[in-house]
Amino acid sequence: MASWIQWCHHWLHTLGIALLGAPSLPTTYQVPVDYSWVYKTPSFPGSVPGQGATRGGLLYTHMGMLTMLPNGSLAAAWQGSTDSWEGSPNQSLYWSVSSDNAQTWSPHQLLVPPRPPGLPVWGPVLHNQDGTMHLFYSASVEQCGGWGETGQGFSPGGDIFHMTSGDSGATWSSPAVIYPFSDRLGIPKVTANRLAVLDDGSWLLPVWHEGSRPDCGQGLRSNGAPGMLLSVDQGKSFEPILLNRPNATWLIEPTVVALKPDRPDMHIPVGLEKDLQPKVEDPQALALFRTKAGVLYQSIGYGREAREWTQPEPINVRNPDSKVSMDMTPVGTMLLAFNDASQLESGQVLWAQ
Ligand SMILES: *[C@@H]1O[C@H](CO)[C@@H](O)[C@H](O)[C@H]1NC(C)=O
Ligand SMILES: *[C@@H]1O[C@H](CO)[C@@H](O)[C@H](O)[C@H]1NC(C)=O
Ligand SMILES: *[C@@H]1O[C@H](CO)[C@@H](O)[C@H](O)[C@H]1NC(C)=O
Repeated sequence: MASWIQWCHHWLHTLGIALLGAPSLPTTYQVPVDYSWVYKTPSFPGSVPGQGATRGGLLYTHMGMLTMLPNGSLAAAWQGSTDSWEGSPNQSLYWSVSSDNAQTWSPHQLLVPPRPPGLPVWGPVLHNQDGTMHLFYSASVEQCGGWGETGQGFSPGGDIFHMTSGDSGATWSSPAVIYPFSDRLGIPKVTANRLAVLDDGSWLLPVWHEGSRPDCGQGLRSNGAPGMLLSVDQGKSFEPILLNRPNATWLIEPTVVALKPDRPDMHIPVGLEKDLQPKVEDPQALALFRTKAGVLYQSIGYGREAREWTQPEPINVRNPDSKVSMDMTPVGTMLLAFNDASQLESGQVLWAQ
């Protein structure tokens, strides 16, 4: 477990590790964390002046994710920009590789440049399937927001793209759109967390819809609505599944794991054992969502290829409207990395402690 949590970056500090699926739920541990930095922006406390800036000048970094490459190295990918704000026209995807189990990291390299003629790219998701690397991300299509120093900031997401690599990411195929902005009346789609492989081999890539202006996504009334991209042919084709969202909060940045039929204890959702257990036959996957409600929400995917999802409901795990990440270890323990707070610290953006 130590190496699993050695990857904390400033966008994702681990405050607690919740072990899901144990008989007494939920269990939260304070664990010792070894930090190894992949990249520090120059303004980050403790960074060496000039280092970040001279090494490529990223003033903004966000949406980090980790995966093992087929060649045995560990890769961290994120979105970043030479501007200090989110959604800059030159926001790109970067990555860094560690070949010593997260002790040291290579200088960051450009993974996906901005989409011409100057549209930001977002939310890299890497997936290794039988030696082939898959990369999912989104690229803005039009400006659905307007922030940043120049007011030119784009809101997250757009078209969702997919590309593959047969050489651990040294070279990549051309990107293909698998879920266009134009679907569902035109609303940006975004990815941020790794996909889950179900027991039958189907893939579930968690996505969400985030319109942030009246003319971007309003027709759907689904700003902050989560979904899944289902692939039953290992990435050759994808179909969207929409999840309901309550009126009370948005549900974004879904994280999903496959449930294992041979581990009946894993069918028990955190905090909802008695409520959900009778309703869900044939549970296939568990999804958690970032919210504005102070706690995480949860939904269970069930039936063939997890095409049905329960109405998302709050669970007993705090969330200050920040991303969480859930994973399954090889021995079948589910891990959740999250910020154990129910709101932002007053006057500050402090999503981690
Ligand atoms: C990003 O834009 C800034 C100006 O806003 C420019 O100085 C910089 O060279 C650009 N970087 C890339 C990688 O396009
Ligand atoms: C694995 O591939 C990555 C990306 O192509 C590369 O940076 C790294 O050095 C490779 N690792 C090994 C052990 O060959
Ligand atoms: C959300 O609000 C609308 C309008 O008030 C209502 O029709 C709908 O039933 C609500 N949905 C849920 C899930 O509560």
